[in-house]
Amino acid sequence: MVVIEVWRMLRGYAGAVEPGTPTETPVAEATVGEPQVALVPPRRGGKRRWIIAGSIAGAVLIAAGVGSGVWQWNEQAAAGRAYDEAVTAALAAIDERNASAVKADDARAHALELVTQSAGVVEAADPSLLAAAETRDQLIAAVETLSSEAELSTDDAGALVLPEAAVLVAATDYGLARSAKNAVAGSTGSTGGSSDLEDAQQRPANREALREATGALQATVKELDAETQAFESQQRDIAAGADAVARATTAVVASAHEHGAAIEVPELASQESRDRFATAVSALAAGVTVELSDDAAAGSATATDSGDEAASSVMLTAAALLTEYRDAHAALIASHEEGVRARDPANIEPTYIQGVLVVNKTYPLPSWYGNGLTAETLAAFGQMQAAAAEAGHSLTITSGFRSYATQASLYNGLAAQVGQAAADRDTARPGHSEHQSGLTFDLNCICEGFGHQADGQWVAANAHRFGFIVRYPQGKEHITGYIWEPWHLRYLGVDVATAVFESGLSLEEYLGITSRYAN
Ligand code: DAL
Ligand code: ZN
Repeated sequence: MVVIEVWRMLRGYAGAVEPGTPTETPVAEATVGEPQVALVPPRRGGKRRWIIAGSIAGAVLIAAGVGSGVWQWNEQAAAGRAYDEAVTAALAAIDERNASAVKADDARAHALELVTQSAGVVEAADPSLLAAAETRDQLIAAVETLSSEAELSTDDAGALVLPEAAVLVAATDYGLARSAKNAVAGSTGSTGGSSDLEDAQQRPANREALREATGALQATVKELDAETQAFESQQRDIAAGADAVARATTAVVASAHEHGAAIEVPELASQESRDRFATAVSALAAGVTVELSDDAAAGSATATDSGDEAASSVMLTAAALLTEYRDAHAALIASHEEGVRARDPANIEPTYIQGVLVVNKTYPLPSWYGNGLTAETLAAFGQMQAAAAEAGHSLTITSGFRSYATQASLYNGLAAQVGQAAADRDTARPGHSEHQSGLTFDLNCICEGFGHQADGQWVAANAHRFGFIVRYPQGKEHITGYIWEPWHLRYLGVDVATAVFESGLSLEEYLGITSRYAN
């Protein structure tokens, strides 16, 4: 406006004193319409007026020029400050974006660790040992979700940390101003991309360029903020996924405990295996308590190492507990099966003590054992029978070899009549009778009277000479397990039979062994 006014003034004056124009005529006009001109005498002081007017015009022009320069300078400075502020904001946005990217990547790394650890839990969780097998399926699903989240993060974190200079240089065709370089050095101390910074163009020189660069930087800040939001969202998703895995794991453990506590322990399992299983089940009850990470609980994007460690601890503990639970159960079943196998009469091993085949209430024979009196037994009986005959006694085998099945029939029939306790005093249970060994026979009447008869007394006094002993002596029931059976002879061979006879002991006493049923 000042310029215009000065120009108008100059124009008006010039119109009044246009060189070469007569001055008389304008006087009258000036008198009427332009008194300021009329104030200037057309002939008096004309040169002076020119000087004054020129000076004023010059001053105004200079002032206008200076004013315009100042205004231009202020605008340039404002644009420069806006540019610098945009650079600073971009640097902050980069730092924030990079920090969130690192946290998201940490969460991803932890999630992948959990996924790895969960494999041990899934592997150890036998569906048949869970009250609700679907808890294992839910764990698998939670792990898959977490794995998916983590892989998503992996992709997005491909360019994990963006170099500040590269971002800023890329943000605008004008690159970094010197102030941006200073800001980089001052705010982050980053040296990454410093050569880019050095090479970057200086702050744009003109206002439009500054504004264009500022706009580009501000757009970049928005993009960076969006990335920051995305990384924080990923971290929250991963944290929630990790907690879901931890919760699913505790559900599997709880389900295992519920099932284990209700299991009916198989009857033939050893006490050792029972104790181990009971301990494993108890451990399941108290072993795992999920602790939500603060991230998932609060929906915060802040990383919490304690939450990560808690989830990791849950996984490791659960895997160990479930493994022991599964193995202890397997041991329990194996022990029972071993008991079944051992109880199978066909699997029993004959017992030899000091070279003597022992058959009594403690030591049974396998069900398949024996197929008649042994040739040696029969031969020895022949000799004894002949000697007895020479002495005037008559000996006859009344009951020789008895198979497992025959003994079972005999014992069960007697037990049905007199009861198990009474039957056990004079008849062996199947597998426990010496008659099955082929080394034993009953003589004559199979009655207590035989012991009082001359035939029985001769046997008692002479049987050892032919390799036999009266197996169940009088007064030894508490040791042998059977009443006095003077008719029941056992072949041991002459040497052993003579030693036992001369010891006055029962065979159990002689060998130092027991004769008691296990149940
Ligand atoms: N009477 C004997 C103990 C047996 O049955 O073998
Ligand atoms: Zn007998």
